[in-house]
Amino acid sequence: MNVLLTGGAGYIGSHTYLALIVYGLKPVILDDFSNSSPTVLERLELISHKPVVCELGNVADLPFVEAVIQRHKIQAVIHFAGSKAVGESVALPLRYYDNNVVGMTRLLQAMEKTGCRTLVFSSSATVYGDPAKVPITEIFPRSHTNPYGHTKLVIEDMLYALQAADSSWKMAVLRYFNPVGAHPSGLIGEDPQGPPNNLMPYIAQVAVQQRPILNVYGNDYPTPDGTGVRDYIHVQDLAQGHIAALQALTSHGILTVNLGTGRGYSVLEVVKAFERASGKSVPYQFMPRRAGDVAQCYASTALAKQLLGWEAQLDLDSMCADAWRWQKGSGNVSGSAW
Ligand code: UFG
Repeated sequence: MNVLLTGGAGYIGSHTYLALIVYGLKPVILDDFSNSSPTVLERLELISHKPVVCELGNVADLPFVEAVIQRHKIQAVIHFAGSKAVGESVALPLRYYDNNVVGMTRLLQAMEKTGCRTLVFSSSATVYGDPAKVPITEIFPRSHTNPYGHTKLVIEDMLYALQAADSSWKMAVLRYFNPVGAHPSGLIGEDPQGPPNNLMPYIAQVAVQQRPILNVYGNDYPTPDGTGVRDYIHVQDLAQGHIAALQALTSHGILTVNLGTGRGYSVLEVVKAFERASGKSVPYQFMPRRAGDVAQCYASTALAKQLLGWEAQLDLDSMCADAWRWQKGSGNVSGSAW
C-alpha cells in the first residue's frame, strides 16, 4: 500500500514513516520543511536502508497534492502537517485556521478528486478541554480553550460531515495524548525551535545544561504531589497506533480513538524518571500555574484496544531513556539541534 505522509519529516511523521517501512508499506513524504529539517530524510535512509521518497510542497496546494497522489498511486493519507503550538495560536489565530483548517480542506479536496478516500488524521486530547473526570473516554464532551484546539475540533467535525455525506470515505481520527521519547537509534526525535513549550524536551535541555532550571507550573493542583498529571506516550507506540488504524479501516467507515497509555504521571514523577534514565540532575523551581493548563488528563484506552487491537507497550523509563539518547546526540549534528 502506498501511503502519503503529510508532515512526514516532522516528529511523529518521521517515526510513523519508519513503522510503515517495517510493516512493508510504502510511505511517501510530503513536507514543506516549515517546521522540520531535510536532514531528517538522510536519517530515515540511514535507519531504514531504503531511499526516501519525498515531495517538497504544501498540503494546501491543490494541483500539487493531486499530482502527488496520482504520481505515486497513493491509497491512503496520514495527515500530520499542521501547526500545534498553543501560545502561538493565541497570538496568530489566522495562521492556525489557515494552516490547519484550510490545509485539511484542500487535502480532502485533492483526495476526493483523485479517488483516494482513506485518511488517518492527527487529532489531539486538546479536544476534551478541561475534562470533568479521568480517564477520558471518546464520548466525553468536546470543547476548546485556544485557536489551536478549535482547529482540531473543526477538522474533526468536517471529517464526520464528509463521511456522513459519502460513506465511501474511510477515516480514523486519532486523539493523541502527550507524545514523548524518540527512536531507539537516537537519530530522530523531537526538535523544538526555541525554548520548548512541552515538558519532556525542556527537561532534556536542562539535563544537558542547555537551560539552567525547569519551571514547574503549579504545585497546588488536586493531584497526589500537586503538579499536573498527563498521559505520556512513547512516540514509537504512537507510530504503531497509525498502522493499527490503517488496518482497522479495512472494516470501519469512521473511527475516533484515544492514543494514550491510560496511565497518568505528574511533572515531578517525569523529572525523577528522567534523572534516573540520564544519570543527570534536573533542578526545578515551582512557578504559578500556566494559563489554560488542566490538573489531570489521561486516556481511557479501552476503545483503542477494541477497535484497533492496539495498546501502548513502552513505559515512562523507556520514554526517558530514548529522549535522553536523542538529546545527547542531537547537539552533535552539524552544530544544530534539529
Ligand atoms: N510543564 C511544566 N513546565 C514546563 C512545561 C510543562 O511544569 O516547562 C507541565 C505543564 O504545566 C503540564 C505538564 O508539564 O502539567 C505537561 O505539559 P506539556 O506542555 O508537555 O503538555 P500539555 O499537556 O500542556 O499539552 C500537550 C500538547 C498540546 C495538546 C495536549 C493534549 O502540547 O498540543 O498535550 O492533551 F493539545
